[in-house]
Amino acid sequence: MRASGHRADPGESQRVHGIGLGSALFDLEGRHSLVTGGAHGVGLMCARALLAHGASVTITSRSTEDAEKACQELAVLGTCDYVVANLLVPGEAGSLGRELAARHPRLDIVVNNAGATWGDALEDYPPAAWDRVLGLDVAAPFQVLQATLALLERTAQPGHPARVVNIGSVDGIAVGEFDNYAYSAAKAGLHHLTRVLARRLGRRNVTVNALAFGPIATGMMVGSLDHESEDRMVTMNPLGRLCEYDDVAGALIYLTAAAGNYVTGVVLPVDGGFSLAPWWVAATPDN
Ligand SMILES: NC(=O)c1ccc[n+]([C@@H]2O[C@H](COP(=O)([O-])OP(=O)(O)OC[C@H]3O[C@@H](n4cnc5c(N)ncnc54)[C@H](OP(=O)(O)O)[C@@H]3O)[C@@H](O)[C@H]2O)c1
Repeated sequence: MRASGHRADPGESQRVHGIGLGSALFDLEGRHSLVTGGAHGVGLMCARALLAHGASVTITSRSTEDAEKACQELAVLGTCDYVVANLLVPGEAGSLGRELAARHPRLDIVVNNAGATWGDALEDYPPAAWDRVLGLDVAAPFQVLQATLALLERTAQPGHPARVVNIGSVDGIAVGEFDNYAYSAAKAGLHHLTRVLARRLGRRNVTVNALAFGPIATGMMVGSLDHESEDRMVTMNPLGRLCEYDDVAGALIYLTAAAGNYVTGVVLPVDGGFSLAPWWVAATPDN
């Protein structure tokens, strides 16, 4: 029988077998990352996950005390430093970018996590809510990207892109039950901004993706999550629970390590199926 005539080129083994043996696909050794709002809640989870997979991390906080406390806690996992920044102050994202460039020769990963919500009755919903929530949840991620892009591009290469991960929300996908008008609009805006930036930055070797988390028991949810509403959310959720650390970490590491090299412009729901609207609507008492 004749051979097929197929010849292996030198790159075939790499293409077929890749580097995907063992944990290499999820290894972040040697990478440096930025997590805005990394001293609390979801941001602290993100910082912890990046450190646990070998990256070093810069976190931001408005509070020196909170940032120091978080860095001390994270130091057992790896190298962590902080920059104090209020991202609602004009020019602050630019200062953050300059500070990072002065301290670190590279930046491989930006996690735009800092965010705010605002709940109020429709008739009372104030203009200040729109300024604060759109400013922090949509404009700030854009400004942080502007301020860090040159540093991200410094080490990004074809096939090994730098990463931007925007922290979105199930509220930007499905219509929930809270009166958080600016927040839902902001997260939907951030999701679409993610796609726009992914399209623009692919050829500059930067991927841009979003993680749309379902409810997580953090400071942001304190006002909304009493026992009764937590029970109801768990009941509504197809997978029957709230989002937890491992869910945040698994999705983030997928998008930031080699496993996610070819993924850009994606809004990944990490919500146990919460955003599957028929389930959500059917389970809401008033429907
Ligand atoms: N919890 C949830 O159920 C849930 C679900 C989906 C998505 N998310 C998203 O996850 C992200 C983090 O929220 P979280 O749940 O962890 O809430 P959180 O505990 O209230 O954290 C909010 C973070 O934003 C930072 N921040 C607030 N105002 C800021 C400002 N003006 N400038 C800079 N940073 C500021 C805070 O940093 P400092 O206070 O240290 O300054 C804090 O780290 C948000 O984008 C949120 O929309 C949360």
